[in-house]
Amino acid sequence: MTRSPDEQIATLQEKLRQQEARLRELEESEGRLRAFLESASQGVVAIDPAGKLLLVNAKTEQMFGYSRQELLGAPLEMLLPETLRHLHAKHRQDYFDAPRSRPMGVGMELRGRKKDGSEFPVEISLSFVRESSRQLAVALITDISARKEIETQMQQRQKLESLGVLAGGIAHDFNNLLTGIIGNASLVLGEMGPDHPLYRHVRDVIEAGQQAATLTRQLLAYAGKGQFYIREIEIAPLVREVVGMVRSSVPGSVRIAVDLLEHLPPVSADSGQLQQLFLNMILNAAEAIDGRRGTVWITARSVDSDALSASRLSANGLLPGRYLSIEVKDDGCGMDEATSLRIFDPFFTTKFTGRGLGLAAARGIVEAHHGSIEVTSAPGKGSTFTVLLPAAPPGKHRDTEPEDLSGSGVVLVVDDEEVVRRTAAAALRRYGYLVLSASDGASAIDIVRESGSRLCAVLLDLAMPGMDGAETLGHIKAIAPDVPVLLSSGFGELEAMDRLAGAELAGFLQKPYTAAQLAREVRRVCTKASQHAESGALP
Ligand SMILES: Nc1ncnc2c1ncn2[C@@H]1O[C@H](COP(=O)(O)OP(=O)(O)O)[C@@H](O)[C@H]1O
Ligand SMILES: [Mg+2]
Repeated sequence: MTRSPDEQIATLQEKLRQQEARLRELEESEGRLRAFLESASQGVVAIDPAGKLLLVNAKTEQMFGYSRQELLGAPLEMLLPETLRHLHAKHRQDYFDAPRSRPMGVGMELRGRKKDGSEFPVEISLSFVRESSRQLAVALITDISARKEIETQMQQRQKLESLGVLAGGIAHDFNNLLTGIIGNASLVLGEMGPDHPLYRHVRDVIEAGQQAATLTRQLLAYAGKGQFYIREIEIAPLVREVVGMVRSSVPGSVRIAVDLLEHLPPVSADSGQLQQLFLNMILNAAEAIDGRRGTVWITARSVDSDALSASRLSANGLLPGRYLSIEVKDDGCGMDEATSLRIFDPFFTTKFTGRGLGLAAARGIVEAHHGSIEVTSAPGKGSTFTVLLPAAPPGKHRDTEPEDLSGSGVVLVVDDEEVVRRTAAAALRRYGYLVLSASDGASAIDIVRESGSRLCAVLLDLAMPGMDGAETLGHIKAIAPDVPVLLSSGFGELEAMDRLAGAELAGFLQKPYTAAQLAREVRRVCTKASQHAESGALP
């Protein structure tokens, strides 16, 4: 049967219509898939058996810092640390020989490499796609830096805590035992008189006992568990007293030159702890001179944080304000860089009879006083230790225990300014929190998505480029409604608060805030949230 040309055209037109409809469907479904791929919170890449990148999504670009044009067609190796590149061809071969879906490198630390050369920890799961003409391996890549960072902080915290428990336990028992030893030996010594043949030995017992007591105190100071009685203290008389104490134990060839300005502002501190701090530094300086002729200079002055570099403030987690800068300088042996990097570690010593606790304790003490300690030194050039301690606020004469602002839990700090992030993080760490930080709304949301249930609070900056605080807040609340969010903003941004009316904010911090204000707010919202969670768990 033959069809008329009109019929044939009609059939063809119908076929064409069907194909157009089919094409539209395909386009729509591809559009959906692409949208899904591009909004995925994991990096997605596909490679061929030669390791050539055939597909990447937006998250991959963001994670590795390359543009899509740079990635497509390039070898996958460029996303790997240099040390692992040569192994990948073999791994890839093995995978294409026996492909199946599986996590990659189980039990191994996998790392990615960004365009700028920095590396970061990743988790990767692999799956396999067979197309008509070729085979592809698809990898889902998760950046696990945030999780790793919490883990590291947790380990560090646990190490300090267990050391603190150990030190506390030792101190308690040792102090009792040492009181017994020193007390009884002193009684015996008193009965003996200096002419007794055993006098020298009993005196040695007492001396050794006193040294043991000093070590115990150093351990406690390192763990931040020393006795604290905070008062306003004048530095000058305290330093002179310590110098008087050490004079007798320092060889005569070592001159100690003290040059302290009068009328320095006082610091809020524990005097016993500060004595310990200066004692440790001065003894080290004298020991560095090691029997030769030399000088230890001690100077102090008052500086304003404005005069210090921002990097120095943030590296040490110092807040703006007035500081006392106390320098202990010597013209002794000095040290090389490798040594100076380790001197604050407990039990690090280069001395035959050293204990390695002096500077570890010094660091514990300055940190407990919200200050910092730094060293500059070179072999043969002497060393200079600089301690910064915050000056006591004028006019206030506190003689009381400080308010307890400590807490625990993970806090996410979101701010586009690095200095703010670092300062807030340092302050929170000091009060016992673990801290994650994000420099923009999008990465904050990623972190909340990944670790929302572990966060005890989010500190969110209102004014940020791109996604601002208000928008970020909406996303965070949608993902983790129970995590309290504290908003912070500077002056003049309060009108923006109108936009937040009705939003569930746990609190508000006006910038600039002090470490204490921050800790007080975080503690308040964290306690409230955990009480809430507990009461919610009741039947
Ligand atoms: N002023 C200094 N000059 C040179 N090296 C120093 C100085 N102070 C400290 N050090 C180095 O730091 C190390 C650790 O010091 P410290 O913690 O006080 O322990 P210790 O004095 O028992 O060795 C010392 O062993 C020494 O190598
Ligand atoms: Mg020492």
